[in-house]
Amino acid sequence: MSVILGIDIGGSGIKGAPVDTATGQLTEERRRIPTPEGAHPDAVKAVVAELVAHFGLDGSVGVTFPGVVQHGRTLSAANVDKAWIDLDADALFSTATGQDIHLINDADAAGLAEARFGAGAGVAGTVLMLTFGTGIGSALFHNGVLVPNTELGHLWLRDKEAEGWASDRARERDDLNWKQWSKRVSTYLQHLEALFSPDLFIIGGGVSKKPDKWQDHIKLTRSELVPARLQNEAGIVGAAMMAAGYALSPNAAAPTGGPAASGAARVAPKTPAKKAAKKGSARKA
Ligand code: BGC
Repeated sequence: MSVILGIDIGGSGIKGAPVDTATGQLTEERRRIPTPEGAHPDAVKAVVAELVAHFGLDGSVGVTFPGVVQHGRTLSAANVDKAWIDLDADALFSTATGQDIHLINDADAAGLAEARFGAGAGVAGTVLMLTFGTGIGSALFHNGVLVPNTELGHLWLRDKEAEGWASDRARERDDLNWKQWSKRVSTYLQHLEALFSPDLFIIGGGVSKKPDKWQDHIKLTRSELVPARLQNEAGIVGAAMMAAGYALSPNAAAPTGGPAASGAARVAPKTPAKKAAKKGSARKA
C-alpha cells in the first residue's frame, strides 16, 4: 500500500489527508484549515507546512493549485493573489516543508481522481471533467490520459468569459435559480461539445453534491453527463496520485498494481530539469 499525503488548495479551505493511491481511499480523516484571506503564497505556504507537520508522513506530497501549473511553477492566478504568477511554488513548498512536493492544477487533480476511482472509471474515449465553484476548472482525458492545464473556464462565449458567467459563484452573484443557471451551463457545455465531442462530461465542484437541482435541466446534443462522485475528496486524492506518479496515465495502474502493471507509460514525478533547477542551476523557459 502506498500512502501519500494529498493537499487541496481551494478558495475557502486548504484540505489535506493521506491517501492510499491504489484504492483512492483516505486513510485518515481529512483536515481543513481556512484559506488565509487573499491567499498570498507566504500565508498559503504556512498552512501547507502545518498540514504536512500534522500528518507527519515521510515522502512525496501532492498539492493542488487553482491555476496553471507547469513544471512546478504556478503561471496564472485568476482567483488568488497575483504573486502566484510565475512563481516556483514547488520550491516554495518544498523548502517550507522539507519534503518533495508535486504540484498539479486543482481541476486536473480532481479529474485524475474521478477518471481512476469515480464517475469516469473505465470510460474509454474523451472525458471532460468540469468543476463549478468560484471559477470553472477543466480536465480533459482521452482513454484515461490527461492533457493538463486546459483552462476551459476561460473560454470566451458571447463576449463573456465562461467562468464569470456560468460558475457557481456567478449563479450566486446573479441570484439565478437552478434552471436559469443550468441554461447558461447548457450553452457552455454545448459549445464544448462542438469543440471536443466528449463521450462523457463529469460535473464536479460544490454543485456535484446536489445534482437533482440541475442535472435534468442540462440540455446536450450528444454527450453523456454525470455528476462527480468523489466530491470533497477528489482534489486530495488526485494530488496524491500526482505525487505517486500517476499524473498523465491515471488508468495505467491495475487495481492492485503500480502504473507499470499495464505497460503504459508512467510520468516521472520530477524531470531532470526540475531537479537541476532545485539545485540552483538555470532553468530553461
Ligand atoms: C483557474 C483554473 C482552475 C479553476 C478552478 C480557474 O479560474 O484558471 O486553473 O482550475 O479556476 O479553481
